[in-house]
Amino acid sequence: MNVAQKVGKLFRPEIFDSAREHAHRAMHPVSARRLLHELERDGAWDELRRRFPRDEKEVHRFGDTRFWIQRNVERAQDLSLDRPPRRRLLDLGCGPGFFNYVARKLGHPGVGLDIDEQPIFRETLRLLEVERIIHRILPGKPLPANELKYDLITSYLTCFHRLERLPDGQWRTWSPADWQFFLEDVRAHQLSPGGTLLLEFHPDKTGKLYPDHVRDLFTQNGARFFRSKVFFRGH
Ligand SMILES: C[S@@+](CC[C@H](N)C(=O)[O-])C[C@H]1O[C@@H](n2cnc3c(N)ncnc32)[C@H](O)[C@@H]1O
Repeated sequence: MNVAQKVGKLFRPEIFDSAREHAHRAMHPVSARRLLHELERDGAWDELRRRFPRDEKEVHRFGDTRFWIQRNVERAQDLSLDRPPRRRLLDLGCGPGFFNYVARKLGHPGVGLDIDEQPIFRETLRLLEVERIIHRILPGKPLPANELKYDLITSYLTCFHRLERLPDGQWRTWSPADWQFFLEDVRAHQLSPGGTLLLEFHPDKTGKLYPDHVRDLFTQNGARFFRSKVFFRGH
C-alpha cells in the first residue's frame, strides 16, 4: 500500500462512522449489567438453560443472557435508542426477542416477527414478554398488513434472503427484483416517513455480504452502508 492509499484509508467514511459509534457508546452508557441483573433475578432463566443445554443444539446459545443483553444494548446504542424520541419498532427475524426487550426497556415499544420453529425462542419470548408476529418472509410476498407504521424496522443476521444451499456450499439468494419488491413493500406499508430500515448481513463463505448487483440495487434505493449493515430511510 503506498502513502496515498494509506492516507485515503484514514479518511474513508467508515472510519468516521466507526469512531462515532465508539464515542456514542462511551458518551451514552446503558447498563447492560443492570438489565441482566433484573432478568436473572427470575430463576426461570437457569431453568431454561437446564432444559436447553448449550452443547445439545447451536440455537441454545440464545439462553446466554449475559452475551445477548450486552450485544443488544450495543445495537440499541448504535441506533441512539438510549434517548428520545420514542420509536415504534418491528424486528424482523427477532429470534429470542432480546433486541425488542432491550428497546422496550429504553422506552421503545414494538413487536418481533419470525417463523415459529424453535422451542427455545417460544420460552425466551415468553420470559421477556416480547410479542411476536408469526410470519415467514418470502420473496415477492408482502409483510403482514398493520395499521400503525413503524419508525424503526431492523433485521439482525436474519438471512431471510437465503433460498437454498447449492452443491458448492454457497447460497442461492434473493434477486434484485425480490429485494426491490421487499423495499417497496416496506416503504409503502410498514415504515413511517423518515423512519429507518436496518438490514444486517452475515458474510458468506467468501466473506461477501451480498452480490454486487444487489449492492447496486441498494444504492439505487438510497442505501447507506456501514460494515455489515445497510440503512434505508422511509419516504
Ligand atoms: C441467527 S437468528 C438471529 C436472531 C436475532 N435477529 C439476533 O440477531 O439476535 C436468525 C432468525 O431469523 C429467522 N428467520 C430466518 N429466515 C426467516 C424468514 N424467511 N422469515 C422470518 N424469519 C426468518 C430465524 O427463525 C431466526 O430466528
